[in-house]
Amino acid sequence: MKLTTDPRAAAVRLRDGGLVAVPTETVYGLAARADDPHAVARIYAAKGRPADHPLIVHVANAIALDEWAAFIPEYAHRLATEFWPGAMTLVVKRSDRAGDYITGSQDSVALRVSSHALMDETLRALIMLTDDPAIGIAAPSANRFGKVSPTSAQHVLDEFVDILSDSDLVLDGGESSVGVESTIIDCTDEIPRLLRAGAITIEDIERVTGLRPGMTSSVRASGTLESHYAPSAEVVLTDAEGLAASRPTDVARIGVLALSNVPTPLGMVRLASPSTNDEYAHVLYAALRDADALQLTSVLAVLPDDSGLGAAVIDRLRRAAHS
Ligand code: TXA
Ligand code: MG
Repeated sequence: MKLTTDPRAAAVRLRDGGLVAVPTETVYGLAARADDPHAVARIYAAKGRPADHPLIVHVANAIALDEWAAFIPEYAHRLATEFWPGAMTLVVKRSDRAGDYITGSQDSVALRVSSHALMDETLRALIMLTDDPAIGIAAPSANRFGKVSPTSAQHVLDEFVDILSDSDLVLDGGESSVGVESTIIDCTDEIPRLLRAGAITIEDIERVTGLRPGMTSSVRASGTLESHYAPSAEVVLTDAEGLAASRPTDVARIGVLALSNVPTPLGMVRLASPSTNDEYAHVLYAALRDADALQLTSVLAVLPDDSGLGAAVIDRLRRAAHS
């Protein structure tokens, strides 16, 4: 695959049925046009992702929601108006536009409008090229199934350079600002349900909809599998006291991930020292990738509190620790 910074080149490659890794404010996605089953099949093959795990369809704006959904509850309109473009994905009852090859044969579809400028420009260019204002691009996170999501173009290249073809592209839009995947909200029922924690919090959803979100759902989400987002190094959850008291045998191969007020035990490798929960989310995946690049055997991760993006960081670290 080749690097580019040109959203028009990305749109042309997508129009022609190719794959393009696209930047979003959450993580990079591996995109194909959502109305092309063959292009979408290549995403599954490249990721090694089981075919029954549905993809998120990225659209240019909330108007396209009406085209992709068969039914949209009032609260979902409110969420779209308030948080799109942004780090939020809505799962709604699907229209005929959403084929089985996108939805894993479920009767719902996941939709998102990203706020990343290059993603927006790519979609606008693709709309011009296809003459379809509601055209979507299917894009899961651009990592191999179960692995750590990418937050830079280099992360995508590291993982896919040998897997994708020379004509596929990586659209370089710099580091993803949020750093963890979008909040996923199931909007197929009378109340919204949180499927995956992200930058839009439970409190945000409640404030905007006036409804207390449910926490469980019958729909499937692979990001909700117990083991996911995992580096090769073993991830061990701890707290500041546990970290200070730990006495591993080979300290030089132990990484530490914690807020900056937590000191690094002598000899261990500090992977990141974020000073806020937002910053923790921003550096999380790069730190886990660094652990593997440094061939560390384990990462001791001190969980933040659950305010703001803290809940998403806790969620991802728990799943990374579960493998
Ligand atoms: O931030 C993000 O959401 C990134 C960027 C690239 O947009 N995308 C992302 O995609 O994280 P992915 O495929 O790695 O995770 C999407 C999650 C999966 O857990 C999938 O199972 C779930 O969304 N999902 C997709 N369609 C669904 C549906 N119809 N019902 C329930 N869950 C769905
Ligand atoms: Mg993913």
